[in-house]
Parts: sequence; C-alpha cells; structure tokens
Amino acid sequence: MTDGTQQYELLPPRASALVESLRDMGYSLKTALADVVDNSITAGAQHIRLFADTHEEIPAIGILDDGTGMTKNELLEAMRPGTRSPLDARDATDLGRFGLGLKTASFSQCRRLTVVTRKGEELSAAVWDLDAVATRDEWVVEIPDAPGGVRWANRLDGNGTLVVWEKLDRLVGAAQGGSGGDLLLQLDEAATHIEFVFHRFLAGRGQVKISLNDRPLEPFDPFHSTHPATQHHPDEDMTLAGKPIRIRPVTLPHHDKVSSTEWRRYAGPQGYVPNQGFYLYRNRRLIVHGTWFRLARKLELTKLARVAIDIPNTMDAEWKIDVKKASAQPPPPVRKRLKKIVDRLADPSRRTYRARGPGQATRNRLPVWTRIQNKNRVSYDIAHEHPTLQAFREGLAPDQMHDYDRLLKLVSSSLPIDSLHHDVSANPEVVDAIAMPKADIRTLAADLIQVLEARDLPPDAIANHLRSADPFQTQWDDIADLLDGLRR
Ligand SMILES: Nc1ncnc2c1ncn2[C@@H]1O[C@H](COP(=O)(O)OP(=O)(O)OP(=O)(O)O)[C@@H](O)[C@H]1O
Ligand SMILES: [Mg+2]
Repeated sequence: MTDGTQQYELLPPRASALVESLRDMGYSLKTALADVVDNSITAGAQHIRLFADTHEEIPAIGILDDGTGMTKNELLEAMRPGTRSPLDARDATDLGRFGLGLKTASFSQCRRLTVVTRKGEELSAAVWDLDAVATRDEWVVEIPDAPGGVRWANRLDGNGTLVVWEKLDRLVGAAQGGSGGDLLLQLDEAATHIEFVFHRFLAGRGQVKISLNDRPLEPFDPFHSTHPATQHHPDEDMTLAGKPIRIRPVTLPHHDKVSSTEWRRYAGPQGYVPNQGFYLYRNRRLIVHGTWFRLARKLELTKLARVAIDIPNTMDAEWKIDVKKASAQPPPPVRKRLKKIVDRLADPSRRTYRARGPGQATRNRLPVWTRIQNKNRVSYDIAHEHPTLQAFREGLAPDQMHDYDRLLKLVSSSLPIDSLHHDVSANPEVVDAIAMPKADIRTLAADLIQVLEARDLPPDAIANHLRSADPFQTQWDDIADLLDGLRR
C-alpha cells in the first residue's frame, strides 16, 4: 500500500490472541461488575438489578438496567472493543472514558458475553463468544435470532439493557463446580464494593436502586457524614487549569461517640488504620480509597482522618484514571496542596484521641496519670501533685514517704506500654480502665475534704480542688452532696 512516497502495511491485531489478552487487565469480580454498573448509571438507569445463578447447570451473572437502552446499531457499536477514543469529550455525567469497559470487564470474568437491549420498539441482542473468536480468528459477534430467549430477558419490559455473562471459566473453574463456594464469597464482596463505590448514587436526590438477587444494596458512606460527632474541617477546594477540584477533609467520630456496631461498620473491612486517607470520586463515583498517595504514612494517630476529593471526568488524563476506574494519581500541583492538607490534618485527629486520654492540663483537669513530652519522647507518670496522693503522702512519716515514693515509681515505670499499644490499636473499644467502686470514690473524697479542711482551706477552694481532679471530676454527681455538708 502506498500513500504518495510513504509505504504502509495493514497489520490488524490477531483476534484469537488479542481477545485473550483483553481478559487480563487486572479486574476482579467486584471491579468488573462496577464497570458494567457504570454504564447503566451513565445510561440514566434508576433501577439496576444484578442476578447470579450460581446453582444452575450453566451458571451465569446478569446486569439488568432500565436506562435508555440502545438501537441495534448503537448496540453493535457498543460491542466493538475501543468503540470510542479516550480523547473524545464526554457528557459531564458520563462514567466512561475508554470505550472498552463493557468488553474488558466482561471478558475478565467470562468467555461468553451477551447484551440484550430495548430502545422503543427495537429489541436487539449481540454476543461475544471468545471460543468462536478463537476458532475463527476473527472479530465476529453472534446475533441471536430470539433475543427474548436470553436468560432474564423477559424482565426487560421497557427501555433498558441486559448484560449476561456465561462460561464463567474464571469464577467457577474450568471444570465447573469445586469453587462455587468461593463464587458466593466473591459475590458478597462485590455487593459490599458496589454499596461503597456507588454510595453517592444509592443515597439522596435522584437515587439509583441497585439490588443483587433482589436484595436491595444499601449505601455505605465512608465519611459517616450525617453523624453529629463527625468533624467536617474547612473545605480545601482548588482549581487546576480552570477545572474544579473539591476537597473535604473529615475526622470520623471517636469510638466513644458511636455504638460498637457503627464503630466496626465505619472501620471498613481492614480497619481504621488502612482506611484512612484520600477518597477520590470521579463524577460522584468512588475510584480510589484509603491512600495518602505516598504523601504521608498511615499512622494510628491519623486513623480517623478521611478526605473526599471530587473531580470531574474532564481531568482523567491528568489523574491517570485507568480503564478499570480503580486507580489514579494526583497531578503534581494537586499533590503539593494535598501534602499541606495531610500535615494540617494530623492535628485534629490527634486531638480527638487525646481528649479521651489521660487528660491534659489545657482542659483544666488534674489527672492521676500525666503525659510528659520531652523533645520527641513521650512518657507517662503518676501525677504526684494530685490532691489525693499529695494529701496521703503528707500524712506519712518521713521513712514511710520514701517507701511510698518508691512504690509509685515501681508502678509508673512498669506501665505495660507494648501490650496497651497492641490492644488499643487492635480493638480500642474493648480497652478500659478498671472502674472504681462508687463507695471508694466517696471515701477518697471525704478523706481529701478532711485533709483540706484541716489546712484551713475555705469550702470553695476545696470544691475547686476536687472539681479539677480525677476521678471526682468525672463522678461529680456522686460526691457533690459531701460538699454540701461541708458548707453547712
Ligand atoms: N447499559 C447500557 N445502556 C446504554 N448504553 C450502553 C450500556 N452499556 C454500554 N453502553 C454503550 O456502549 C458504549 C461502550 O461501553 P464501554 O463500557 O465498553 O465503554 P465506555 O463506557 O464508553 O468507556 P469505558 O471503557 O471507560 O467504560 C458506551 O459508551 C455506551 O454508549
Ligand atoms: Mg463503560
């Protein structure tokens, strides 16, 4: 072939080879299903139904939507690998980019992809069967003559589209059977994934309903946005080349503020520490979650920090969005900004943690234990200035005082830091100090009042002393009457 002086050879890809390679773009069942759901949402579906026939002789998975549907020509175009260029401009609500997802996601899980679609009067179907492509070594699609006979097609009553996966070689194993249990587990994970990545669509205005085998999926909002104890920090919105980027940092409620069920739910599957970080949404669809984009380490101290980033689909190239919509990288100017945000965030999240800790002087409270920070070392010691301890010590004979000091040193120097750290990191909600019986607290308070009275302190000063010290401060209701007696 020549074009003026330049010579060309036609070199189309080998169908039988390339079609197999298209299967290995790194999808899992959950990312593949999400990619197909993307198409349904883009097509304006209000109701998306996922079906999984795992016990039938021929296991199959179906995704049915009530979106716009397609004409026969649109369907054929949709079936074409690379039907649209990633360089094309897209509608502002389009979740697609590459013209590949339907095919690559489906082929990653099955060897037979059927699409049945209805638009107006037109009901059409087309099938990619990878075995047929392999045998003929040509990009051939089958056109079934009875689209209505396809599994689940009878439920396509108005406009809409049905995607069916059969020959699930990777899900049920080449010999079929055997790993069926694993498929159920994967389906369960996929349902959780969809509740997560589409949570903004599943809740609120213009709500989309998604079900799996008729079980409605519920939105899972990783920001626990509606809880009153969730701290919403000031917005950090910015623009890049005129395009808006919304950045909303949040500190999740401390476990004191939520029920233990909620605490576990919002931890996410792997727990709070791995799930801290940025959550990137593209057109309201979650792309990446729980990463600081290598700008910071995931620390126990920042485990409640999560930052929502919202980008439009016009920034895909800058963010390096991949075909699976499961990875992205912030462009350099955004990285700079994000770095500042992470550094700032480390603070409120720490405060949330300290508030419950041994108490801080800033909170006007005298704890029994005190936190001592020296350069970058932190240690804990018994607070010798605590009124109860002080009063007790002053009542001792000089040699007993030495014994007493040694005793306290023994206790404070043997704080089991490692085991505490381990327990608090693994399961903070089950770790607690041993509660002191009410009667003992009263006795301690009464003793202290007596000592302070003997020092001729006026009643108000005595009350202030008690009010500032643990455990009286936190159990005030139980001892307040002792002070009334004093005033009288
Ligand atoms: N459920 C559906 N309803 C209506 N049209 C659909 C549906 N699924 C796919 N299409 C059409 O088929 C086209 C190809 O879909 P495909 O998922 O392969 O690529 P894409 O969505 O354009 O981009 P990406 O590769 O990023 O997913 C879509 O652009 C859309 O026009
Ligand atoms: Mg798509």
